[in-house]
Amino acid sequence: MYNSYKRPRRNRKSESIRNLTQETTISITDFIFPLFITEGNNIKDEIGSMPNIFRLSLDNILREIEHCVALGLNNFVLFPVINEIYKDTTASYSYSENCFYLNSISEIKKRFPQICLMSDVAMDPYSSDGHDGFLQNGQIDNDKTLPILAKMSLAQAQAGIDIIGPSDMMDGRVGLIRQTLDKNGYQNTSIMSYTAKYASAFYGPFRDALDSAPKSGDKKTYQMNPANKREAIIEAEIDIAEGADFIMVKPALAYLDIIHILNERFDVPIAAYNVSGEYAMLHAAAKNGWLDYDRTMQEMLLSIKRAGARIIISYFAKDFALLKK
Ligand code: PBG
Repeated sequence: MYNSYKRPRRNRKSESIRNLTQETTISITDFIFPLFITEGNNIKDEIGSMPNIFRLSLDNILREIEHCVALGLNNFVLFPVINEIYKDTTASYSYSENCFYLNSISEIKKRFPQICLMSDVAMDPYSSDGHDGFLQNGQIDNDKTLPILAKMSLAQAQAGIDIIGPSDMMDGRVGLIRQTLDKNGYQNTSIMSYTAKYASAFYGPFRDALDSAPKSGDKKTYQMNPANKREAIIEAEIDIAEGADFIMVKPALAYLDIIHILNERFDVPIAAYNVSGEYAMLHAAAKNGWLDYDRTMQEMLLSIKRAGARIIISYFAKDFALLKK
C-alpha cells in the first residue's frame, strides 16, 4: 500500500480546524440588497416569481431599510416600478422634477444618511419600448442614448445617491456619466458599472417585477453573448479607463469564471449580481422540498465570493442576515 505523508483530511478533522483553514468567508457587510419601489402609500405587493420580495411604497421602503439596518445590512440598490402613463420613447420621466424615484432617493438619504444607496441607470423602466437604449427604426441608437443616461445620472446624484449603477451596456456611458457628474460638482458620487452584463434568461422574474420586458426584440445587441469571456476583459478595460469605481458581473452563478478572470486581471473591487432567476430557482426547489434553503443559499453565496467577488448584490441578503443573527 502506498503510504503518503500527506493527509489533507487532517485539516478537516474538527470544526475548529475547519474554521482555521477556511479560505473564504462571507459577512453581511459584503452585501447590497435590492429594493423595488413603487409610487403610492402603504403598498406591499409580493412579486409572484420572487417569494418574500415586494414592490414597496416609500413608507414601507423606509420601514424595510430600518429593519435591514438593525440586522447590519447597510447597502441597498433601488429599482423603480414606473406606471405606464409616465413612459415615453426618451425615458424623460427618469430625470423629471416630479419623478417619485428621485424624490424617494432624497427621502431615504435624509432618513438614513449613513447607508450606501445605489441607483439603476438604464432607460428600460421608463421607456415605452422597454429597451435600455433609445430605439429608432427598430435599432438601438447608442450615441443618442448617452445624453439621456447622463441626465438621469445627474438627477440621481442631485437627489443624493451614493453610487450610480449604469446597467444599460451602451458603449461610452461610464465616461460621459463621469464627466457630467464631475462638471456639476459631483466628484464624490461613485459609479458601479454593470461591466459584463450578459443577455441572460435569468432576468425573467425581475422583468415581471418591473414590467420592463422589451416590447419588441431582445437585448442581444447590447448585453453580452453568454458564450464570451474575452469580451468581458475588453469591457472591463474600457469601464475602468472611463472612471468606474467598481465593475460588476451579472448574472453571478453561471458566470463564476468571468468573476474569477476579472478579479485576476483588475484591481478595482468586483461586484457580482446574484440575479432574480437565481433567487427564484432556489425558492422553487426549496418549496418542493428538493433543496435545503439555508444551506444551499449559503453555498451559492460562498461560491460567488470564492470566485473573486468582493461585493454580492443579492435578494438573499436579508435572509442571510437573519440567519447570522
Ligand atoms: C435593467 C436591469 C435588469 C436587471 C437589473 N437592471 C434587467 C434587464 O436587463 O433586463 C436584472 C436584475 C435581476 O434579474 O435580478 N436595466
